[in-house]
Formats: sequence, C-alpha cells, structure tokens
Amino acid sequence: MISDSSEPTLIGKQIVLGVTGSIAAYKAVALLRTLLREGAVVHVVMTQSATKFVTPLTFEVLSGHPVSTDVFESHQEMKHLSLPAQADAIVIAPATANCLAKAALGLGDDLLSTMLLTAQCPLIMVPAMDGGMWIHPSVREHVGTLRARGTIVVDPEIGPLASGQIGQGRLAEERKILESVLAALAPQRDWQGQRVLISAGPTQEPIDPVRFISNRSSGKMGYAIAEAAQARGAQVVLVTGPTTLPTPRGVEVVSVVTAEEMLKALTARLAWSTTVIMTAAVADFRPAHPASQKIKKQGRITQTLDLEQTTDILASLSAQRTTQLMVGFAAETNDLIAHAKDKLKAKGLDLIVANDVTIEGAGFGRDQNVAVLIDRQGGMTELPLMPKRALADAILNRAHALLHTRQTTQAPKPVAGGR
Ligand code: PMT
Repeated sequence: MISDSSEPTLIGKQIVLGVTGSIAAYKAVALLRTLLREGAVVHVVMTQSATKFVTPLTFEVLSGHPVSTDVFESHQEMKHLSLPAQADAIVIAPATANCLAKAALGLGDDLLSTMLLTAQCPLIMVPAMDGGMWIHPSVREHVGTLRARGTIVVDPEIGPLASGQIGQGRLAEERKILESVLAALAPQRDWQGQRVLISAGPTQEPIDPVRFISNRSSGKMGYAIAEAAQARGAQVVLVTGPTTLPTPRGVEVVSVVTAEEMLKALTARLAWSTTVIMTAAVADFRPAHPASQKIKKQGRITQTLDLEQTTDILASLSAQRTTQLMVGFAAETNDLIAHAKDKLKAKGLDLIVANDVTIEGAGFGRDQNVAVLIDRQGGMTELPLMPKRALADAILNRAHALLHTRQTTQAPKPVAGGR
C-alpha cells in the first residue's frame, strides 16, 4: 500500500519505464514524474510508435537521462542487456496489444521487446487499448501467459476511450500503477508457512566400487526451485543426488547417492512437508548384483549387466501422502504432452512440469529450460525458453495457486502401472 505520508517510497530504486505506441503515451509523462517524486532513478525506453505520440525530448528533460529507442544506437553499450541488468523493475505503461503479444511470445524486434528477453527483475505491464482489443481471445491468451510467468499485468479501467466508445481499455490510474510497482519491489513472501521438500540431481547406481550408472542431470533445475521457494518464505529441504552446485542460502540439504537412498530420505520427510517437488532424474534401473570389488577386464570377454527396476519414488510418495501437493517433472524426447499426462495420472500428481529435453539450450545441464505446466484439472500453460530460476518462480506461482484451490478437493492417488 502507498502510505499517505510524504515519505518517498522508491528511494534508490532503478526503474526502466517502457512507453509504447498508444494514445495514452502522454500519461506516461505524469507517471514518470510520480516515479521521480517517489525517489526512483528512471530510464525511459520508447518504441518507435511511442515517439509519434510524445517526443523523447520530453522524457529526456524530465528524467535527466537520455531516452533509448534503438537497439543499435550505441556501439559501446548493449542497452538491451545493460538497462535491465541494472533495473529493480521494468514498468511498461502504456503497453499495447502488440507489446503484450511480443512479450508473451518472446519476440525481440526492437529495444524494448529484446530487453524483456534478458530481464530478470519484476515486470509490470499496464495495458491501454480499445475495449474490443482487450477482450480479443489472443490478447486474453497473452495476458494469461504473462501472468502465469509472474508478470504483473495491471488491468485497464472502464471509461470513455479514444474511439468515443465506453469500454475497458483506459490506462489504469497512476495510484494503482504505483501500488503494483511497490508490491513488485517488496520481497514476495507468498510461500511463508509452507514446508517444501524438493529433490534434485541424478542418482548413481553402483556397478562396482568404481563404476556406476547415472544420467546427465546437473541439479540446476531443482536447486533453482529450492532457492526460489526459500526466497519466497518457505522452509525448504533439498534432497540431492551428487552435484557440484553450492548449497542455496537458507536451505537444508540432504545428500544422497542412489535411488534407494533418495527414496528413504524423501519418505522420512514426507509427513513434515506441505509440498513435494520432484525434479531429480532418478535412475529407473540399477545393477541387480553390484560387485563388491572392481570388475577386471577379462580379455575380450563380453560382460552383461543384470538390471532391476528401482522404486518409483514419486508414485510411492503420492500413495502415502495426506494433504501434500505433489509436483513432478516429465523429461521427454517425444510426444511430450501425451507422456506427461500419462505420468501425471499414473503418479497421482497435482501438477507436472513437462520438458522436452531435446530442445537446444534447454534441459539437462543447461542454465535455461522450456516447459509446459499441466495440472490434473487439465489446465495447461506453455512457457518459453527461460532461465531455470525464472521457470522456478513460474512453477511456484502455479503450485501456489493450486495449493489454495485444492484445499476443497480430494487428493488423487497414483494409478498402478505407470512410470
Ligand atoms: O538437473 P538439470 O541438469 O537442471 O536438468 C533438469 C532435468 C532435465 C533433470 C529436469 O528438468 C527434469 O526433467 N527432471 C525429471 C527427470 C526424470 O527423471 O523424468 P522422468 O520423466 O523419467 O520421471 C518422471 C517423474 O518421476 C520425475 O519427477 C522423476 O523425478 C520421478 N521419478 C522417476 C523415476 C523414479 N524411479 N522415481 C521417480 O520419482
């Protein structure tokens, strides 16, 4: 909330104010003055269409900083990287339907949209457009995608529009925009009071004392979720297979090696938890008879390895759960959605994060990932390629919403036979 005292609320905050081509662009001038009055340092980025409504000079004089409009304007500085890197928040007001679509689809064809692809800070979008455009299915869909990803979209208000019609499309009141900026900058503590049990990394299944079967998981996805949940106020226990990652601050880490150890560690903590998020790439098979001594090369004699199935940890936890929200992952190389839906049902989950691990730059070992969130009511959100830390927040946003809606519904039980 904005206090009625005259204390500035944004002292020292760096804000990028994006202005796009709407008749409401003139209102961004007043918004800039308010942000400055609240103590923020504001850098304005305009699209080419916005400059047809208000001149960059107006924003330049008021903000005291050059206005950026072009991704190619400086050879020295890559503004699409440097501006968002320094920003505490990005506010786009007014945001046109075109700007919302580009942000939702991850298109970067000018400075403002390219900047959004690199930004890690909170993003507040304040749409303004004709009422008919605001209710158009594609605009609704893009707003839904942005919100699912954690973007704050401040709904436009109802009133007379530039067309002369009355409708919902007017830029939100300045007070509402400022409240959204303050809320976005306040540390988000929406997971306070929750106890989150997370698994991460690979498991290693011994063949002999020096060899094992494992996979390419680095643990980055699970660690990112642990870090995000802790930052949002949750108590977090991270049960992790072997990784080289540092312990996330404020997170209790339990190190395990094999699937069996992971099963025991997670089962022992299930009753404590309110949410389980199973990111680990658990080995599905292990050598049935690991050798107690190093297996010697025996000339050219072919060795065969007898394998046995490991326990499906997630299905086992689901079968024992009481009120916990169960979130699983599906790592797929084909038929992503069909396989993920099968796993959601077979393992008795509330939510599954389906990731196609063949996508370039995503999945095992990478810093980015691309996923589809599917819940057991059939709700589906496709997310674009994004840093694993941002995906962690998107998963927590969805899980948080489910935690609040499922209190009235029955928890599902796993269906026999699925893996
Ligand atoms: O660790 P990173 O390098 O960051 O990579 C991230 C990731 C690709 C490992 C992650 O995004 C991911 O997809 N994790 C799940 C990997 C996996 O084992 O998927 P699956 O489709 O085989 O299994 C489905 C679910 O069942 C998973 O939640 C898995 O943890 C769980 N499972 C699987 C086998 C088993 N024996 N017990 C389980 O609990």
